[in-house]
Amino acid sequence: MISADCIVAGCRELLTCAGPLPKRGQALRQVGLVENGWVASSKGVIVFAGTEEDFLAQVSPEPDAVTVDARGMVVLPGFVDAHTHLPFAGDRAREFGLRIQGWTYQQLAERGMGIQTTVKATRAASLDDLLSLCLRRLDRMLLTGTTTVEAKSGYGLNLEDEIKQLEALRGLAALHPADVVPTFMGAHDVPPEYRDKREDYIRLLVDALIPEIRGRGLAEFFDIFCEPSAFSAEETRTLVRAAQAAGFKIKVHADEFVTLGGAELAAEFGAASAEHLIAVSDEGIARLAASDTAAILLPGVSFFLMMDRRAPARRLIDAGAAVALATDFNPGSSHLSSMPFVLQLGVFTLGMTVEEAINACTGNAAFAIGRAGTVGSLEPGKKMDLLACDIPDHISLAYEAGRNPVRTVIKSGHIVVEDGRRVGPR
Ligand code: NIG
Ligand code: FE
Repeated sequence: MISADCIVAGCRELLTCAGPLPKRGQALRQVGLVENGWVASSKGVIVFAGTEEDFLAQVSPEPDAVTVDARGMVVLPGFVDAHTHLPFAGDRAREFGLRIQGWTYQQLAERGMGIQTTVKATRAASLDDLLSLCLRRLDRMLLTGTTTVEAKSGYGLNLEDEIKQLEALRGLAALHPADVVPTFMGAHDVPPEYRDKREDYIRLLVDALIPEIRGRGLAEFFDIFCEPSAFSAEETRTLVRAAQAAGFKIKVHADEFVTLGGAELAAEFGAASAEHLIAVSDEGIARLAASDTAAILLPGVSFFLMMDRRAPARRLIDAGAAVALATDFNPGSSHLSSMPFVLQLGVFTLGMTVEEAINACTGNAAFAIGRAGTVGSLEPGKKMDLLACDIPDHISLAYEAGRNPVRTVIKSGHIVVEDGRRVGPR
């Protein structure tokens, strides 16, 4: 018999989301649905996921095992938010007010607002300020089912303040149960003091920030905003080469507003992901489909910036790309952190099926941040990260639009959200 110290019993629908990752094409619709499903773990690692009959035949609960009664609940893997700008200070509520009056995101940026507003606030914040902001945000994310978060720096834009952002992320490991995957994004924008000498900032990134941050082991990924208002295709090439040489894995903010060939570049670099893709070209779609570079779509951006234009999710999926969904949580272009809401936007605004959106928020998202071996599905050997949702069936994840159905969250075998409230280990 398999011994277990944590058991989730009698799920009305258990969605294991099992299967080889990433899921492409038709496979993206397979959620591994088991009616009256059971899940068990030992020391935070799943040892069983399947039917009641198999559970009773194979698993022996330890005497003091924690049991969650999931009758009437839909249970699925913890959400993986594969794209956030978590460690920022300040807010841009005033600029949001201007956008409501008709200003565009780009017009604000051209007038020294936008990302630069957040750079000022983040530079002025202390490491402790950033840590406590991140902790509050991670708690909020946990309540909507996010158990693993990718988090980018990129509001420091100098050595000291980029390190401060990344150290805040590192500090979270001891203080919060969510897993945080750090990304260095010093190439988010050119800072104001380098406005008239952008080549010098690129040299600073190549000669100082990239080697120093990699040397300190502060980030696993390097990300760059490849967009006419930020870094050109040629600059992207230079910076990505330097980052790869230093040992970073690559992510690219690609074709967000303007078609610049960012998706093609990401595929060419063998990047882990190309992200945004609202303006991706047909060639970009074909290149991503033929590559292992995940396409991370961020439907919160079109929503939050009130744009008619959306990422071509259907064409990417049908072409065979490894599509994931994420929040892009940040203060300017997507001030939202709820994965259930993103899942709903995937269905309502990108034309995805509910099953595709579920896989895009779990297994494929894990693949996009290099965590396919440990999270993103409920299979023996993976972390016991799961959600129990108070809905009659998985379709209701989208159908009950605007609602957060997450009642219980288990992270690494510990209950961290119970009855919709944050509990348990820090
Ligand atoms: O993913 N595109 C660049 N960066 C963010 C926006 C950051 C900001 O506006 O502060 C994004 O949309
Ligand atoms: Fe982003």
